[in-house]
Amino acid sequence: MSTSKPSKPYEIFNSTCYGLAGVNDNSLDAVITDPPYGISFQNNYWDKDLPNRQIWQDCLRVLKPGSFGLIFSSIRLMHRLMVDVEESGFLIKDVLFWAYLNGMPKSRDLGLEIDKELGVESKKVGKYRYVQGYKKGGAENYSAGQEKYRYEPASELGIKYKGAGLGIKPAYEPVILVQKPIEKGLTVAQNIKKYGTGALNLEDTRIPYAKGETKVGHHPHPKGRVTANVLRTDEFADSYDKFFVVAKVRQHAEEFNDHPTLKPVSLMHHLVKLVSFPEQTVLDPFMGSGSTGVACIELQRKFVGFEVDEKYFQISQKRLG
Ligand SMILES: C[S@@+](CC[C@H](N)C(=O)[O-])C[C@H]1O[C@@H](n2cnc3c(N)ncnc32)[C@H](O)[C@@H]1O
Repeated sequence: MSTSKPSKPYEIFNSTCYGLAGVNDNSLDAVITDPPYGISFQNNYWDKDLPNRQIWQDCLRVLKPGSFGLIFSSIRLMHRLMVDVEESGFLIKDVLFWAYLNGMPKSRDLGLEIDKELGVESKKVGKYRYVQGYKKGGAENYSAGQEKYRYEPASELGIKYKGAGLGIKPAYEPVILVQKPIEKGLTVAQNIKKYGTGALNLEDTRIPYAKGETKVGHHPHPKGRVTANVLRTDEFADSYDKFFVVAKVRQHAEEFNDHPTLKPVSLMHHLVKLVSFPEQTVLDPFMGSGSTGVACIELQRKFVGFEVDEKYFQISQKRLG
């Protein structure tokens, strides 16, 4: 970050994050980021590969000793990302589990594929309307969309494998909690005194007790229980109210924002509160449409963000105001 005091509480760059150009060593208090997952999600050009390990080394350079970080990840490539982050010098502290429940299974009926392989025509068993994406309110709201036939396998082998597929429904996203080691020779308290970093903000992320809950330990804290490494959506109908609750946002949650992997600002609020304190500065090297930044500004934190794609950068500019 430039040494002159910025008039706005944020500084955002329409450029690659590699090198974190212009950001001073040991100058920021936390990193929260949702990087490319390397799974070609919806064929997005920027999601073909995991980030190069260099960016985690860059983050280590600009963070103060003891700073925490939260890095979203895909389930499939989390192990690679964790190795990259760890080998760059971060400590792996935990993995948060954001259970949103409404992911779409990316599978297909292998019974129908077997029919095709055998040259047998599958049976038409009715029609349905195909609408891409989720519609609130369930099937009855799928009135628009393209009419398509529903098929069932017809061959003997196809019938045996009817409904068999290749994948289960993805219902959670991992978020890796990392920390830059505290300064050598210092205790945690000395590190906090020197840099203001090294502590998770547990006080501001407590989960209020559920209504009518009585059994909460010998000395219940007035604000609730310590936040857990499970974050869940309000669609978890199990009356088990002990986790931070946040639903997945739909694409186009804001009319002008078509970022395909938009994160809910309420989720970002919780994460910002967990790894930073008011007036501290949070970095997001892959900010997309700026959800981390929006949460930071709303919570009196400062923000430094990078986004290489001009269109997403402009959306983030608009959101940050
Ligand atoms: C998963 S998206 C982040 C979405 C964000 N969480 C939101 O709510 O809008 C990752 C973003 O990283 C950007 N990106 C990819 N490579 C980058 C790079 N080298 N430097 C900066 N941004 C990059 C992509 O353009 C994409 O917008």
